[in-house]
Amino acid sequence: MSPETTLAGVAVLIDAGPTYEDIDPVRFLGNRSSGKMGFAIAAAAVAAGANVTLVAGPVALATPPGVARRVDVRSALEMRAAVLAAVNGADIFIATAAVADWRVAEYSARKIKKGPSGAPVLELIENPDILAEVAAREPRPFVVGFAAETDHVAEHARAKLVRKKLDLLAANHVDERVGISADDNALELIWPGGSETLPRAPKAELARTLVARIAAHYHARAAA
Ligand code: CTP
Repeated sequence: MSPETTLAGVAVLIDAGPTYEDIDPVRFLGNRSSGKMGFAIAAAAVAAGANVTLVAGPVALATPPGVARRVDVRSALEMRAAVLAAVNGADIFIATAAVADWRVAEYSARKIKKGPSGAPVLELIENPDILAEVAAREPRPFVVGFAAETDHVAEHARAKLVRKKLDLLAANHVDERVGISADDNALELIWPGGSETLPRAPKAELARTLVARIAAHYHARAAA
């Protein structure tokens, strides 16, 4: 492994999976993220020598061997708290989680019952943007975001890179075959000075390529 692609001695914080936003004790709002890409990135970062902390939403995945610490969370607010508690020691933050954009304004401690007044109307409020919050810190780790786009991938992704002040953004094109819960994936890597396509590959292989690119960009910035 060349010095630019190794992460020996580097602390990497990764969030992964969906978040579940509880409505009442039996219901929640969720999404179809499997967490596979984040876990594959954690495994690849371990293989590159990193000290990895993994903050995981509700997923059915075993911790990759060698991950130093795993913190399990359920909601976006829990994920935010776990990320902020770990971010001070991190050199690189990789936000792969599909954080729910909204949560219900008021959790009902009692199960909501059907009744004569008809279907309930849920009021939603926006969740904090964990990635943008980490990127706004000073000092901050090297910040890598993800974006799932269905159209105008490069254009939307570059706008997100600028808006959230990221060092690197990995955008995937979501359709029925490639994307959020699929086993393979393709990525468009975007940074302030350029872009690169990482062609479609199984997630484990793509994760290794991505981690090597993240390491190269991280070391290039550290040397600048
Ligand atoms: N993200 C986050 N916290 C949120 C929402 C998103 O940390 N509350 C992170 C994700 O982990 C991912 C990136 O932000 O790394 C992109 O998320 P996305 O939902 O695509 O971004 P949005 O700004 O919500 O863009 P869009 O307009 O496409 O919804």
